[in-house]
Amino acid sequence: MESLPPILRLGHLKDVALFQEHVRSLGLTIPSDSRLLTGVDSPLTHPLSRGGIQIGNRIAVHPMEGWDGTADGNPTEHTIHRWKKFGRSGAKLIWGGEAVAVSHAGRANPNQLVIAKHTLDGLARLRRALIEEHRRTTGSTDGLFIGLQLTHSGRYSRPDTHDKPEPYIVYHHPILDRKLGLSSDYPLLSDGEIDAIIEEFHCAAKMAQELGFDFVDIKHCHGYLGHEFLSAYTRGGKYGGSFENRTRFLREIAKGIRSLAPGLHIGVRLSAFDTIPFRPDPSRSLNGKTGPGIPELHDTLIPYVWGFGVNPQHPTEVDLSETIQFLSLLEELDIRLVNITGGSPYWNPHIQRPALYPPSDGYQPPEDPLAGVALHMKVARQLKQLFPNLIIVGSAYSYLQDFLPHVAQAAVRDGWVDAVGLGRTILTYPEILWDATLGSEIQHKRVCRTFSDCTTAPRNGLPSGCYPLDSYYKNSELAERLKMAKAKR
Ligand SMILES: Cc1cc2nc3c(=O)[nH]c(=O)nc-3n(C[C@H](O)[C@H](O)[C@H](O)COP(=O)(O)O)c2cc1C
Repeated sequence: MESLPPILRLGHLKDVALFQEHVRSLGLTIPSDSRLLTGVDSPLTHPLSRGGIQIGNRIAVHPMEGWDGTADGNPTEHTIHRWKKFGRSGAKLIWGGEAVAVSHAGRANPNQLVIAKHTLDGLARLRRALIEEHRRTTGSTDGLFIGLQLTHSGRYSRPDTHDKPEPYIVYHHPILDRKLGLSSDYPLLSDGEIDAIIEEFHCAAKMAQELGFDFVDIKHCHGYLGHEFLSAYTRGGKYGGSFENRTRFLREIAKGIRSLAPGLHIGVRLSAFDTIPFRPDPSRSLNGKTGPGIPELHDTLIPYVWGFGVNPQHPTEVDLSETIQFLSLLEELDIRLVNITGGSPYWNPHIQRPALYPPSDGYQPPEDPLAGVALHMKVARQLKQLFPNLIIVGSAYSYLQDFLPHVAQAAVRDGWVDAVGLGRTILTYPEILWDATLGSEIQHKRVCRTFSDCTTAPRNGLPSGCYPLDSYYKNSELAERLKMAKAKR
């Protein structure tokens, strides 16, 4: 079997010219500026005003969950630690904070936050901590626009114990059902149960508005419930089959929010493209190390009708036709805020969060992780060109490491996206773009190197965080427990 060429570590590249040459040598298109601009000259500092939404700059923080809430869905000190980082980033667009479940049943893990009467004080505390830290870092809260990501985890619900899935599925998926051990008679969510979940989103949005959030994100990504609806081609009834039926979930949620929480903005984080679920190649695992990812067998599954944003004839290829239809629908619904992501951390982490080191439930990278970054950027750019009136936020920049500021500056300046979202880098070096706009030296020692412990820890029932670089985790007893969990594997 042919082995993959070694992946060049970006930390070994001494300057941006070498990075640019490296990107070219891989045959990829990733824009980057050779010189970082500061102050008002930097496109990253330019305010954004569209459709009544005012955002103070072009830096966004993605939702970053911590698996560190209490059993009843309230935040802990760990959660506050993370939300302070969101504020310290200098980003004026806080996209959701983190996934907050609209009900106990919809939690992806027993430590996920929940929005309910008994958690309102806790959520208010998080928002206050973020705002305070933002003020401390930047001197002002002008133009700060904060959302809350609302979720139901659907197929990936595990509300009670971290190792006991309690899936709510919309249709039977030939690969994912097998991965989750679901039999062909495992019950689907009924239309009536879906109607009830929609009402939970309405109540949650109303509460978010009362808490002072500027918008709610109706999460449609990463394999959770909203995303699963978009590929419910094989489902009967009012929530499956046609595009209209598959988007009814979103439309009904938006309608209810407009009437119950007028004035609250709505956003959608969307897995705009996908591919077949991947698994480690068993023929290439070596010395206990998993092999590189390969797509699950799918020869007998063509046309492939279980993925959104994939080509049904060649499902490892992207097809944006329905994604484009979906963004047109968002425009019709006056939903302006769109955060473009792709795939799922459960079935193709190399797409969703490109990394050099895989998480414990992943596989070695099947391609240079820069290919995943380039794909995200290409898709976001295509959609931005087609929808100039939407506010498009791009994802998957953390793998760019020391060159993140150069790429972010070019992407915003050239109109590939309206704002650059920061995910994993927030856990270790939240101010990376803010520092760049101030002309401060980039602190290389704090740059996220994509070790994936932030995913491996929660896969082992521990809170997320940057264990290698953030002393808050590095020096805690949690780090010892993570080490033990990794040694057992
Ligand atoms: C530890 C961790 C927690 C995450 N939590 C969420 C979440 O709550 N909601 C969400 O939409 N995405 C979540 N993501 C995905 C990130 O928002 C982001 O899309 C991904 O990490 C890629 O961006 P990056 O390259 O900047 O890390 C999470 C990712 C990680 C690693």
